[in-house]
Amino acid sequence: MKDFIYSYPVKVYFGEKAAEKALPAELAKTGKTVMLAYGSGSIKKNGIYNEICTYLEEAGKEIIDFPGIMPNPTYKKVQEGAALAKEKGVDFILAAGGGSVIDCCKIIAAQAVTDKDIWEMEFKDHVFPSEFLPMGAVVTASGTGAEMNNGAVITNEETRQKAGVLGAYADFAVLDPACTMSLPARQVISGAFDTLSHSMETYLGSPRDINLSDEIGEAVMRNVIRNMRVLLDDIYDKEARSELMWASAMAENGILKIGKVTDFQAHQIEHQLGAYTDCNHGQGLAVIHPVLYRHIYKDNVKQFARMAEKVWEIPAEGKTQEELAEAGVKALADFIKETGLPSSFTEMGITDKGILKKVADTCNITAGCCKKLSREEILEILEECF
Ligand code: NZQ
Ligand code: ZN
Repeated sequence: MKDFIYSYPVKVYFGEKAAEKALPAELAKTGKTVMLAYGSGSIKKNGIYNEICTYLEEAGKEIIDFPGIMPNPTYKKVQEGAALAKEKGVDFILAAGGGSVIDCCKIIAAQAVTDKDIWEMEFKDHVFPSEFLPMGAVVTASGTGAEMNNGAVITNEETRQKAGVLGAYADFAVLDPACTMSLPARQVISGAFDTLSHSMETYLGSPRDINLSDEIGEAVMRNVIRNMRVLLDDIYDKEARSELMWASAMAENGILKIGKVTDFQAHQIEHQLGAYTDCNHGQGLAVIHPVLYRHIYKDNVKQFARMAEKVWEIPAEGKTQEELAEAGVKALADFIKETGLPSSFTEMGITDKGILKKVADTCNITAGCCKKLSREEILEILEECF
């Protein structure tokens, strides 16, 4: 186990009527001017917007509306939000949405209190912000676990990068599975796959000897697979939605990462695919994972074999470690098909093969992946994904 320090800044209100419990109590602690940030309007259709506004009005807040945060939020949108927050003297940001809205707000919270450019600060000077506007999150789409960490994935259209930027932690997160019920089935499944991906990418990092974090990770992965299968029968199953919502938070609240260097190579490739295609995150991962794993499992046979046995419940008897590991990768690919997630970029609607080299040339190569991939190998993987 690597040494670690663990503490957690996000207070979680989980379950039925969580907003009713959280918002009056938490808003009593904030300043008067609250920016309510959201996406393209789903919260207006499902009633969440009205409910939040009622709590804000009852708490005597001045509401600054900030709509239009797009999936795969752009740095331009961050700047728009930060400028509005500065102009209106915003005291607190309330994000209501999925990972995109929450991520955008994490960086608005940083940019709103400085005149320095956050992107340049982080990527050129390697200095990370330490002051933020406080923020809270009402989660309407689970999967990314964005509410549980201070990393935001932002698309910089000028530099053609989709990258992790460090921003604010939410002071509190409202996780009520009922808020996710209006989410389209495709997004429910791709979000849940994102959680599985986070767990796998953490599990397959180093050290390769099993530790407590990995054993908790196995439980999270089994839980996600089981509950995704429940949703394939009934997409509105409340218990499964609720399990997946907490699994999503568990995968990204740092517990599975304790004592580990994580892998996240699939994410790095997918993020750059997103920079060039604006594709759905969970779907991109679903295509990349099996192909990537076929390329690397021989470099981490022990952990891939263990995942096959403990997560995919494949009997080890009569198989070599390598056969077991390979069977686990096949089980993952079969599961992706079973869930209706895409298995190729073509199925995702990506038609321009020309972008693949750009993705391969610009994605990060991670230190935690069991095999240090070359750019040529990443291109090969991307071509196999087509
Ligand atoms: O625009 P709105 O109206 O919010 O509609 C959204 C959007 O169209 C819709 N939606 C959300 N809640 C809904 C709903 N529609 C109906 N009913 C509801 N209750 O769903 C669509 C997708 O939303 P989005 O927030 O983009 O999805 P997701 O939560 O999957 O977030 C994806 C973003 O998070 C990043 C991804 O890269 C991507 O940019 N990630 C963030 C991470 C983090 N901060 O830790 C980790 C992840 O690995 C990931 O990279
Ligand atoms: Zn992800």
